[in-house]
Amino acid sequence: MKGFAAAFSIFALYLAWHAAHDREASPADELPVAAALAQGASEVGAAGASAASTPMLASAASVPNGASPSGAVSGAAAAGTAGPSGGSGQEAAAVASTDDGTADLVKRGEYLARAGDCIACHTADKSRPFAGGLPIGTPFGTLYTPNITPDPETGIGRWTDADFLRAMQQGIGKGGEHLYPAFPYAEYTRITERDVLAIRAYLNTLAPIRYTPPRNDLSFPFNQRWLMFFWNLFNFHEGRFVPDPKQSPQWNRGAYLVEGLAHCEECHTPRNFMQGLKSSDRFSGAVQAGWRAFNITPDRAGGIGNWSDEDIVRYLGTGAVPGRANAAGPMADVVADSTQYLTPEDLRSIAAYLHSVRPVVGGQTRPRDQWGSPADDVKRLRGTRVTSVDGAQLFVANCASCHNWTGQGIGASSPLAYPSLIHNSVVGAPDSDNLAMVILHGVNRHTKEADVMMPAFGNELDDDQIAAIANYVTKHFGNPKATVTADDVGKLRQRQQ
Ligand code: HEC
Ligand code: HEC
Ligand code: HEC
Repeated sequence: MKGFAAAFSIFALYLAWHAAHDREASPADELPVAAALAQGASEVGAAGASAASTPMLASAASVPNGASPSGAVSGAAAAGTAGPSGGSGQEAAAVASTDDGTADLVKRGEYLARAGDCIACHTADKSRPFAGGLPIGTPFGTLYTPNITPDPETGIGRWTDADFLRAMQQGIGKGGEHLYPAFPYAEYTRITERDVLAIRAYLNTLAPIRYTPPRNDLSFPFNQRWLMFFWNLFNFHEGRFVPDPKQSPQWNRGAYLVEGLAHCEECHTPRNFMQGLKSSDRFSGAVQAGWRAFNITPDRAGGIGNWSDEDIVRYLGTGAVPGRANAAGPMADVVADSTQYLTPEDLRSIAAYLHSVRPVVGGQTRPRDQWGSPADDVKRLRGTRVTSVDGAQLFVANCASCHNWTGQGIGASSPLAYPSLIHNSVVGAPDSDNLAMVILHGVNRHTKEADVMMPAFGNELDDDQIAAIANYVTKHFGNPKATVTADDVGKLRQRQQ
């Protein structure tokens, strides 16, 4: 017990010291994690958190709801689901189909669950949606997402609405234990009670799936959940979104979505050494599973200041803005699972808000999407015998069938086009990480508009060849300062996707 207390105080001092010095962290490039008491010892967590165990039910009633699809939900309908929901999911589903108010609530909850992209993390196997089990790699080990279907044994069927609110708004689990911030409660805390309960009402209508995800595999001390108490102290500010009366309803709606439900900052804001979000550099870019989630502040060179509102709406709605950007990797999933379902009004609100955040320069002199010119190496290559690894030859052999040997793409701006690599944000980025990742993993994006597919070359091409192609592509079609080595590609290849 003494050793325990000593370890505890040392860790607390360490955190406090770092917080005081606010040291520049080595770029933390994983989902946040923190700590946790080994399953079964959650009472210790409860001791630290007892003060927080009464749910704070205050909600900002005046949050603008913009153009949510089913409009305002009546108070009566919301109240209808506020009772204890210890029963089965079927009961809730039955209610949903007989009560018009509840049906509206469920529809609204479905929309909000999409905006919050719950399915992305809580689905490991598409045949078991929301049943969890997705491994989330962190610097401290692997977390597996829980089952959030209404199954009473393995899911959250026995959770009351108050339990659910407490998890979403305070990051506290049913047994009073601290949840890890890989669950984005640091953002979800801003969601109003009404919206959280709508999400709950929707989850209650899902088919209950009996499935127990694997146990977390975290190293000591990160398997001590109670340590999250300290993480929260420095990195978590509980509280609902407070609208800014000086801003338009549209701006407030955008802020509510971006800072809350849509949790864009989980990927686009850099982290401090504790894996908390660095609030001084919001939206200025970070690394996610080996991919650069770019700077999306309105700086003209470093960010997306040269994008129009319509460009942002189109990007989030379809994943492609010809002549600027295509969504690959984790962003392709965000578009496919979440933002493509948002109404144009909500997407415009997001654009309006993003255009208003503090611009962060980041050392660039030219926007990512303003580089490159067509190549004509194919002429030089005709009739020559290539014996070594040659970027131009590899490009013509592997990429030109779709992107054209000039790099200008095929099919112009139609939804199924093979995009131009000239004026493309990945090719013009200051480093080639995403380009190498696109070559390794391809592009796979299924939206209402199109099924977009670029093959993955990870199995066909070795690290030398991928580096040679990437360097050829950035030299001609993109930012020539962005170069990669075969070693870099090898490291990116190791990243868990
Ligand atoms: C970025 C990934 C991610 C997203 C997005 C996400 N979750 Fe989770 N969620 C997690 C992880 C990881 C945990 C487990 C945390 C832990 O073990 O402490 C979790 C835990 C939970 C829990 C607690 C379950 C339990 O058994 O303790 C609930 C409830 C929950 N999530 C609901 C949601 C809802 C609703 C949404 C969408 C609005 C959502 N989550 C979106 C990663 C995510
Ligand atoms: C799971 C991580 C993740 C989340 C969450 C996320 N993004 Fe992204 N985002 C990325 C990555 C990675 C890229 C780079 C994509 C690529 O290389 O094609 C990106 C690219 C973008 C771009 C294009 C930038 C450019 O210059 O090409 C925009 C705009 C953007 N994200 C906006 C958003 C908004 C708005 C949200 C919240 C609704 C969001 N993102 C949420 C990871 C994420
Ligand atoms: C079979 C056709 C095909 C081949 C071959 C192909 N691509 Fe692609 N490429 C695509 C498609 C489709 C997209 C995605 C378009 C979209 O997002 O709408 C794409 C997107 C890209 C992007 C933009 C990614 C982003 O996030 O902005 C880059 C860069 C790229 N390809 C490079 C390459 C390179 C380098 C090669 C050769 C190693 C190659 N492609 C081979 C079809 C192809």
